[in-house]
Amino acid sequence: MCGIVGYVGPRQALDVIVEGLRRMEYRGYDSAGVAIVTPVGDAGSAELQVAKKAGRIENLDKELAGRDITGTTGIGHTRWATHGAPNDRNAHPHVGGSGRIAVVHNGIIENFSVLRAHLESTGVEFSSDTDTEVVAHLVARELDNGRGLGDALRATCRELEGAFTLVVVDREHPDEVVAARRNSPLVVGVGEGEMFLGSDVAAFIEFTRHAVELGQDQIIEITADAYRITDFDGIEVDGKPFEINWDLAAAEKGGYEYFMLKEIEEQPAAVADTLRGHLVGSEIILDEQRLDKQELRDVDKVFVVACGTAYHSGLLAKYAIEHWTRIPVEVEMASEFRYRDPVLDRQTLVVAISQSGETADTLEAVRHARDQKAKVLAICNTNGAQIPRESDAVLYTHAGPEIGVAATKTFSAQLAAVQLVGLALAQARGTKYGDEIVAEYNALAAMPEAISRTLGMMDEVHDLGREIASSKAVLFLGRHVGFPVALEGALKLKELAYMHAEGFPAGELKHGPIALIEDGLPVVVVMPSPLGRPLLHQKMLSNIAEITARGARTIVIAEAGDEQARKHAAHLIEVPATPTLLAPFVTTIPMQILSAEIALARGCDIDKPRNLAKSVTVE
Ligand code: G6P
Repeated sequence: MCGIVGYVGPRQALDVIVEGLRRMEYRGYDSAGVAIVTPVGDAGSAELQVAKKAGRIENLDKELAGRDITGTTGIGHTRWATHGAPNDRNAHPHVGGSGRIAVVHNGIIENFSVLRAHLESTGVEFSSDTDTEVVAHLVARELDNGRGLGDALRATCRELEGAFTLVVVDREHPDEVVAARRNSPLVVGVGEGEMFLGSDVAAFIEFTRHAVELGQDQIIEITADAYRITDFDGIEVDGKPFEINWDLAAAEKGGYEYFMLKEIEEQPAAVADTLRGHLVGSEIILDEQRLDKQELRDVDKVFVVACGTAYHSGLLAKYAIEHWTRIPVEVEMASEFRYRDPVLDRQTLVVAISQSGETADTLEAVRHARDQKAKVLAICNTNGAQIPRESDAVLYTHAGPEIGVAATKTFSAQLAAVQLVGLALAQARGTKYGDEIVAEYNALAAMPEAISRTLGMMDEVHDLGREIASSKAVLFLGRHVGFPVALEGALKLKELAYMHAEGFPAGELKHGPIALIEDGLPVVVVMPSPLGRPLLHQKMLSNIAEITARGARTIVIAEAGDEQARKHAAHLIEVPATPTLLAPFVTTIPMQILSAEIALARGCDIDKPRNLAKSVTVE
């Protein structure tokens, strides 16, 4: 969704904010803009200088090049458009009160059309098509009524429905920034004599490691030296301070041309860090557990809810949890879950997987589950995000910040996390003995090394990617745990290279999709292990023969030493042998590299694919 930055302190705000926006750009890149409070004369008066431009931050840079914008208080925004086309006019900040105040917004104001109609009836003229602009006019109206800046925002928020992070500056309060949060992220960075606001800590990590998390329906007023948090009614509340435990290098490219390429290489560490500390003796430990053991033991049904790539790790959770616990598991796209009235009760566990922890569809699924008295366990990569906050138990993935919009290392970390959750449930249910848990954990602990080896085996995959870059489509086939990997491969290719790509269970091919096969069409096949799943392996060889006979150019991902796969494949990509359930750790790697190479050969920006945002905080 959108990225937000705010600053008050001794530095030139424009520099801090534009740099922060660059780090927030993964959240949206339809337009970017800033509003800086510039002092005029020496009587403490100031004016607002606003610059905004459609497109990426480079466009804003050009716009700023000829301007002299000074001032030590300001706000900035990078947009993923919802209401209103992604053009200059709809870019944030939006101004109200004849240029007195400026506001940036992440989220959707659901009742904006009613509010807009009302404001228009009182003579207010709008200059954009956004939902955000109503906030600018409402805050200005409250200021005109004599309220202070914090009060004006509180009064405005009481009128708003929907999800929002709002950040406001006012030329009449030049040393202050106020912000509000409901169902959208906002963190505060506390420096020495300076304060920062950001959609996430990457916005200010270069300046401070001390951060404060805001709760729902809260307002923060910051000056250079202090902050004050209240609810929307003005009652003071405490923020939740935390220390940022990753360093700036983690949010920088470190010599790679793209974040995604760096993040692919970081997968061994992402998996190792996610596993670390979760086996104590022979017991699997979650990060947070507000459920007692009996409640976990009583679970008799599991739903996994997630979106996008996280949904694919959810599909793999099903294999692990059912295999180890024999509890039935359903995996559902979070956007569909609550609207079909799923059957949930106190003995249902809903596992919500979300890298960001703020995806609106997943968050609403969690809330629905809790309303129905189900228990919720979150798997999340963002400490303290809304989804884990609203869950009964949490397992954090420790992949570090993922800036590339297409998920790579967070997917691998989620694969580790779903295995841990499966083992934790097996332990609670008593379906696995302690020594079996230790053995499974040890097998998992070997995955970082297996991924490293896989990464070292990918030279030909880079070449192959470039070779097939002009194909009009690519199909992906898998069976068993290879099927979610095929889906993830297809999603990566769609996201990165804007190519038509579909993933299918290989057995389903003959029921329709085989009609898509034509001469030269690349088909990526995820081969089951010949030893681990011999029957499926044989069936897959037949599937390869069927499509080869119809002209497909098969690209087969198989265990090293799988000679039968070699005979059948037009191109063979070898990966290390692993236990069956863990194969996705290694079979996913060539999918990521292939998609990235194809996309790069087609001239696409693999860090910022068109139309996408890293986290989507609207339904
Ligand atoms: C967006 C991103 C996807 C991501 C999905 C779920 O659509 O573009 O890459 O998988 O959201 O995000 P989450 O943060 O909930 O894992």
